[in-house]
Amino acid sequence: MRQKVVLVTGANGEIGHGLIRYLAENTEANIVALDVVPLDKSLRDLCSSYIVGDILDQMLLGRLVVEHEIATIFHLASILSTKAEYNPETAHRINVEGTLNLLRLAVEQSQWQGTPVKFIYPSSIAAFGIPTLAEKMKAGPAKEDEWHHPTTMYGCNKLYCENLGHYYGAFYRQLAADCGTAETIDFRSIRFPGLISAETIPTGGTSDYGPEMLHAAAQGEPYACFVRPDTKIPFMVMPDAIKALVRLADAPRERISQIVYNVTSFSLSAQDIHDIVMKAFPEAQIDFEVDACRQKIVDTWPEEIDDSAARRDWDWQPDYDCDRAFNEYLIPAIRSRYQKVEMK
Ligand code: SER
Repeated sequence: MRQKVVLVTGANGEIGHGLIRYLAENTEANIVALDVVPLDKSLRDLCSSYIVGDILDQMLLGRLVVEHEIATIFHLASILSTKAEYNPETAHRINVEGTLNLLRLAVEQSQWQGTPVKFIYPSSIAAFGIPTLAEKMKAGPAKEDEWHHPTTMYGCNKLYCENLGHYYGAFYRQLAADCGTAETIDFRSIRFPGLISAETIPTGGTSDYGPEMLHAAAQGEPYACFVRPDTKIPFMVMPDAIKALVRLADAPRERISQIVYNVTSFSLSAQDIHDIVMKAFPEAQIDFEVDACRQKIVDTWPEEIDDSAARRDWDWQPDYDCDRAFNEYLIPAIRSRYQKVEMK
């Protein structure tokens, strides 16, 4: 008998680390991890199997379904907003064609199993695009259906893949003879703000100045923040991001009233983060050296987002406000992490 599994793509990434640990510690799930690089050693024992491979490799995905019955997919693999601008077409292939491959795999699996495969997709504040800074300042909390003109390849990819998920969940091959009877997928997506983890440092994102400032300070390394001090966007710590993914995946289907949900915890300016970090690590050396191009990207992202739909439909509530996030999670965990490294 094939084993029923939860597939996690992009398993080695920041969210992958937190999610795999959470699922292993709190559920009975058999986790199959997929990533282009070998899975972090600390995660290997937590998974039933881990596969090194590319989501663009159709043969690999074909083999995956021969061996496993996939009940849920957390499709985390993605090229983030800064990295995507260096090679937008490659980013498009990974972010869109990769997602398309997994959506098709999920539909086929749903049809074989006669029950919808759950497809959980992290989207992003990058899906928003506010045309001018003046509009950003007076916009107020952005709702899911507002400001749909992202200016990055990553943002375009995320917005489009949310729509692809909607299509695969409700309209896939809508003119086929078996339309309406064939099983399809249960697609659910979350628009995350900038994420900050104590365990990992992000790569290739444009909200990275937040976590980078903190991790650099804790390691005693100088840091030049690449956005203006007044730049404000929403952030969330990793435990809350994992909570949101798991809560959304577990929510009864009848309570899900939309394809994409905003979630948020707290909004901070780069100056706010600087001040919090300096208080915790007074020796830190943090400057502001604005990168005009990356600044332009962050200037299109909302200062705040409205997550009332998630609160209403699946009782979303973050565990960490700003104070708790830094004082009870980030600062102590990061401090002990780098102290341990020094002692080694
Ligand atoms: N963290 C992402 C990025 O910076 C935004 O969701 O690309």
